[in-house]
Amino acid sequence: MKVVVLTGAGISAESGVPTFRDADGLWEGHRVEDVATPEAYDAQPMVVHRFYDARRTALAAVEPNPAHLALARLEEHLGDDLLLVTQNIDDLHERGGSTRVLHMHGELRSALCRACRSRVPWTEDLGDFPPCPRCGVAELRPDVVWFGEVPYGMDEIQDALAEADLFVSIGTSGAVYPAAGFVQYAGRNGARTLELNLVPSEGTHLFDEARHGPAGQLVPAWADELLR
Ligand code: APR
Repeated sequence: MKVVVLTGAGISAESGVPTFRDADGLWEGHRVEDVATPEAYDAQPMVVHRFYDARRTALAAVEPNPAHLALARLEEHLGDDLLLVTQNIDDLHERGGSTRVLHMHGELRSALCRACRSRVPWTEDLGDFPPCPRCGVAELRPDVVWFGEVPYGMDEIQDALAEADLFVSIGTSGAVYPAAGFVQYAGRNGARTLELNLVPSEGTHLFDEARHGPAGQLVPAWADELLR
């Protein structure tokens, strides 16, 4: 059984990480174009650094929840037959025990050097313009895929979706492409599709089945069902 799981901010909500489009969401406090576009970074790098430095620091205060742990258990049983794709830039999947996580929108705990294009593990602030560990130039930016940039791992994701028997979307609003289109691509290639989300997402009608409720309850129950 080949499974592709896509997660979004909703899987981390019960860990205390704000989502983007819920009432008290991250974008509420910011205009996307002010903190999540290459143009914003060129125009006001410090505003962008402060936004991501704060989110990177906040990682220390949150813990994985039962949904993250359930996906790690799934990986233990399915191995390479599971591809976990996340839109999230937090490290809660890894801290929950998942070892193969494809961060299609990048990661807070990584920095991208604009001089040598290296992606380097990073846990400190970037707002003081530290030198790149690889080339020494002080051109490190958040290793986050901003609006208008190309997500990571699209070839691997497409290949996995084409082969999948099951595609499960967890905690995402279906508001942002290309992730929002994965359900249709998987379905067209013969996969069964399931949505696990607090409320019906924008694309809920595209799924064979949809279950609504907190990921911390739905995901462990679904994983138990799959592993039975
Ligand atoms: N359990 C399950 N789902 C939840 C929970 C929860 N406890 N809390 C919220 N949700 C759902 C919401 O109903 C919503 O559908 O999670 C979804 C979160 O949607 P968004 O805030 O839009 O986050 P996401 O879908 O991950 O955004 C996708 O957009 O802003 C960009 O790059 C950013 O990766 C992000 C992308």
